[in-house]
Amino acid sequence: MTVLLDAPQIHERIVSLAAEIESDYPPDDEIHLVGVLKGGFVFMADLIRAMSARVTLDFIAVSSYQQSTRSSGEVRLLKDVDARLEGRHVIIVEDIVDTGLTLTYLQDMLRARAPRSLKTACLLSKPSRRKVEVQVEYVGFSIEDRFVVGYGLDYAERYRNLRGVGVLAPHVYA
Ligand code: PRP
Repeated sequence: MTVLLDAPQIHERIVSLAAEIESDYPPDDEIHLVGVLKGGFVFMADLIRAMSARVTLDFIAVSSYQQSTRSSGEVRLLKDVDARLEGRHVIIVEDIVDTGLTLTYLQDMLRARAPRSLKTACLLSKPSRRKVEVQVEYVGFSIEDRFVVGYGLDYAERYRNLRGVGVLAPHVYA
């Protein structure tokens, strides 16, 4: 495995993303973050701690990859959010946008719940892999099409605990 992004690099980027997000909303408005499980939980944990107190959070769980590196193109809702989104400033918090299918599904679903605003924050984006155009207001890093793990991202449920993002050697997953 080779390191693509180390922990200090990620931390620095998240601090600046958090500041950018907060400056985009009126100072007294609450921001409701919806983390996408499982991969998004590490990014969520670091993002909220880089923000001021006016955040609340919830989680949603979806699955699109069946223990493989290839997208099935199918998105399944495994767990819905607990709280209502109506009238709130909602930000979807994802680890990675790849084909864009998962986010398109989530954005459509959450937009139908009449939030006051809906935006998306992704730590990583692989623009070359997009199958559908999807709007992501806050992107941590745009990366090339490599199989990345760590910082919440898995291969067959492993490596989520790595502090940085690494590239798996092809012989591991091919
Ligand atoms: C990953 C990632 C996104 C999605 C992105 O989730 O967390 O949700 O794939 O891919 P897309 O843009 O091609 O739709 P995964 O299904 O691997 O689940 P996990 O977060 O539980 O690991």
